[in-house]
Amino acid sequence: MFFYSKIQTNRLVTRNYLFVTIYMKIFKLIVLFVLVHVSVFSQSEKYTAFHPGEIWKDNNGVHINAHGGGILYQKGIYYWFGEHKITGKGGNFAMVGVHCYSSKDLYNWIDEGVVLKVDTTLNSILEKGCKIERPKVIYNKKTKTFVMWFHYEKKGNTYNSAQSAVAVSEKVTGPYKLLKVCRPDAGTWPLNVLSMHKSLKFNTVNATFNGGSCSKDVDSVNFVGRDFEEGQMARDMNVFVDDDGKAYHIYSSESNSTLHISQLTDDYLSHSGKWVRVFPGRFMEGAAMMKHNGKYYLIASGCTSWAPNAARSAVADHIFGPWKELGNPCVDKDSATTYYSQSTYILPVSGKKNAFIFMADRWTPQKPINGRYIWLPIKFDGDKLLLNWFEKWTLNKFNKKKN
Ligand code: GAL
Repeated sequence: MFFYSKIQTNRLVTRNYLFVTIYMKIFKLIVLFVLVHVSVFSQSEKYTAFHPGEIWKDNNGVHINAHGGGILYQKGIYYWFGEHKITGKGGNFAMVGVHCYSSKDLYNWIDEGVVLKVDTTLNSILEKGCKIERPKVIYNKKTKTFVMWFHYEKKGNTYNSAQSAVAVSEKVTGPYKLLKVCRPDAGTWPLNVLSMHKSLKFNTVNATFNGGSCSKDVDSVNFVGRDFEEGQMARDMNVFVDDDGKAYHIYSSESNSTLHISQLTDDYLSHSGKWVRVFPGRFMEGAAMMKHNGKYYLIASGCTSWAPNAARSAVADHIFGPWKELGNPCVDKDSATTYYSQSTYILPVSGKKNAFIFMADRWTPQKPINGRYIWLPIKFDGDKLLLNWFEKWTLNKFNKKKN
């Protein structure tokens, strides 16, 4: 009896052991299946088109975090630099820095990490919580240096710093080192200076600035004269490199009322003192520049903070003007809000003729990290620029004779 029950127990143990082993094997197989499936899924999710306004995942399956950005093309690779936003309301402050992504085909982007970092040192220039907006990187062939310009606001200073900052790196993917913060064009008058600006006192009497407008003629207020010594106010900005290698800083100045276009020094690190005021009193923001058939074009927005408004476009034979406004380039439904977006850059597509991509941000200020990217092909209609809406489009759009 004893013998029999021992055999029984042994059998039971062996059976249980077998069950456990089988269960373990099945469990392992399931885990393996899930892991393989997840990684294959994220790797195989290759984009073959642009999907404006939708979540745009990087190589890690994370929505691209490069807002207010711009692109540098370098040796067959596009590098996208932009503001790294975080979740929640404070996400529009610089809590992390400038994020960079790289791509060979413009659809699929590899995360290159944060290339300019904020720090935690109390009262340092790049203290966490300052503002780093609209970063743009250009390459200086003479000095073999990558130069990043951005709109800078000191921590706690709301938007009153209205400064520009420049950072440099020997490698395109950084790390970028802050060189200086400045108010542009100190001590110089614009090439198209008004004589009244040299003599008039700054005068805001009866001038109320309301969003994108001023109740008084902006010229008569004379920000230029007021800021002559200290340098001009500079908020939304872009940089543009011309065919001859000269670079220009384009920034919203004079309390956002007027754009300034300012030539940089040959090393791209300072302002040369050659600059002009354009579109006085038009409150242009998000200005982006391109050159096509020898003419310069600008696309910009009005000034309504994070809320979208109707884009503007303009053309000039010379970068310093005179500039002629061409109106809103958007032509489809929701053109009055630039398809719910604000311009940030115009990207010439390498190796394709007449191929320019309008890049814009669809801001989501309540959850800034969720902001979407609106990329659309630019169409030429004589001297005019047109922006049609596409839910989905590819670079083949540029192959057709008339895009
Ligand atoms: C927008 C500007 C953004 C940001 C925002 C803050 O008009 O284009 O870059 O500065 O205002 O309200």
